[in-house]
Amino acid sequence: MKLNRKVCVIGALAAIVSITTAATIKKTADDKKPADKQLYTNLKVLPKDISSRDLQSIMADDFEDGIGVSCGFCHANNKDGHGLDFASDAKPEKEIARTMMRMTLDLNKRWLKNKHPKLGDTGLVVQCTTCHKGQPFPDGAEPK
Ligand code: HEC
Ligand code: HEC
Repeated sequence: MKLNRKVCVIGALAAIVSITTAATIKKTADDKKPADKQLYTNLKVLPKDISSRDLQSIMADDFEDGIGVSCGFCHANNKDGHGLDFASDAKPEKEIARTMMRMTLDLNKRWLKNKHPKLGDTGLVVQCTTCHKGQPFPDGAEPK
């Protein structure tokens, strides 16, 4: 009788432990969700739920390589002087780049009959490099 009760208690404890563990795991998964959704806080042209992989490849391949600049050409420095504040709109080049992004999408959609043009898609007829060819000032406007 006594042994039976012990088994019962142990069984109950084991059940509690596994329920708590399950709850903890679920909570961790839920906690992650908002962070994933809000990876970036200031996107006005790119899809707000873009993956970090897609965003990084647009920034590095289309923008950095395509127009021949580094991240800091468009992105302002952090206030503490360490690194860049990617969400900040302090540098005018970032807003010019947004206009260029809209123009590029519009060219593909309106004139080149691509119904759903997406930046970063290597199949786009007109991309940043089409005009820029690795140069920030394709019309040579900027005095050297
Ligand atoms: C030609 C200009 C330009 C260059 C160069 C550039 N970016 Fe960006 N970046 C932008 C623009 C414009 C946006 C905002 C896009 C939008 O509004 O949809 C942006 C957005 C971002 C964001 C999202 C910030 C947020 O929270 O909203 C990150 C992160 C980022 N860039 C990283 C980089 C990195 C890393 C590099 C260098 C490898 C880089 N960028 C180079 C123009 C640039
Ligand atoms: C149809 C041709 C064309 C395409 C496509 C194009 N650009 Fe431009 N871009 C230009 C021209 C021309 C200028 C110079 C405009 C001026 O001098 O006012 C320019 C200027 C810029 C500047 C400003 C440089 C400065 O500081 O004045 C940035 C930043 C830029 N482009 C980024 C981009 C990005 C990012 C893309 C791709 C999303 C892109 N451009 C696609 C033609 C193009």
